[in-house]
Amino acid sequence: MAEELTFDPGRHPRPTVVDTPATRAVAADPEIARLSQDELISRIRDLKRKREAVILSHNYEIGPIQDIADFVGDSLQLSQQAAATDAPLIVFCGVHFMAETAAILSPEKKVLIPDPMAGCSLADTVTAEQVRKWRREHPDHVIVAYVNTSAAVKAEVDYCCTSSNAAQVVRAVPEGKEILFLPDMFLGLWLRATTGRKIHLWMGECHVHAGIRPEDVRARMDEHPAAHLLLHPECGCVSQCMTALADGELPKDRTHILSTGGMVKHVRTCKERTDLIGTEVGMIHRLRKENPDKEYVPLRADAICEYMKTITLPKLYRSLRDMVYEVRVEEPIASRARRAIDRMMENA
Ligand code: 13P
Ligand code: SF4
Repeated sequence: MAEELTFDPGRHPRPTVVDTPATRAVAADPEIARLSQDELISRIRDLKRKREAVILSHNYEIGPIQDIADFVGDSLQLSQQAAATDAPLIVFCGVHFMAETAAILSPEKKVLIPDPMAGCSLADTVTAEQVRKWRREHPDHVIVAYVNTSAAVKAEVDYCCTSSNAAQVVRAVPEGKEILFLPDMFLGLWLRATTGRKIHLWMGECHVHAGIRPEDVRARMDEHPAAHLLLHPECGCVSQCMTALADGELPKDRTHILSTGGMVKHVRTCKERTDLIGTEVGMIHRLRKENPDKEYVPLRADAICEYMKTITLPKLYRSLRDMVYEVRVEEPIASRARRAIDRMMENA
């Protein structure tokens, strides 16, 4: 695939995850229809205790889901929690590839997702067959995959990484080996610049982050000239921002390229009042809880991941009540994917 780094919003229709079978099931459920939010919360808590479940939530989930979860974190932290928990049941409030990773790491536990249609536009940009073809074209290269991929894709690669340990994983690849990085081209460009390694890019992107453009950074920086700038490496503006940093157009001490977990750590200690947030807007709920005294301004208020937002309290309640929807990764995919995931965990 030729490298082509322009973003075309026409290629990115917003995903239609509003009318899913799980959404219809909760709408038609006579018990759920009667319950107030407080009653739902109390029943979720009761069922969680009864079933000895742990509820994990990604930082992009809606506020009420983050608030009821036992643990809220980034992709790597959620994988670590899934691997470490003693609970026999994990209810994963995140997207499907994250629940699959939990199922691979904890094959003896049951993993549920409240709506299996919570997908990922970035993970959908590459299939296992395409990875096999890419490897055939470059048999001597090492394949590093971002965790935002299906289990079938993970089974075809050498290493996995998340945004919080991607540079560490790339540095762990034997010196002199060229790397095929998939599927996010913006994260891959950032890795090229930060590690200096020879990295070939897959031209995938996330529709939410790719839409965060240099003009958004410019406009928000003009409005808040003293703010810190927090950018997720999937953002479509990352390479232009790195050039602007090198040219002195962006402040070195106030520009940070971070995973969602890295953003949480940043706001715990940063004294400057305003942070500009270059990622999905659910992050702001998490950051406010972490440090309510600061002001958080999204680079784009429409940076919304519909997949994350399809997980709601009624669906979480139904998931615990009816034990739906189980996420299982069958053999031999699970064992083959675990090799790459274990390398991700070793470099955490
Ligand atoms: P993090 O690993 O930084 O939480 O990112 C996950 C993700 O899906 C970003 O869009
Ligand atoms: Fe996937 Fe983008 Fe949603 Fe993250 S924000 S889960 S990369 S679609």
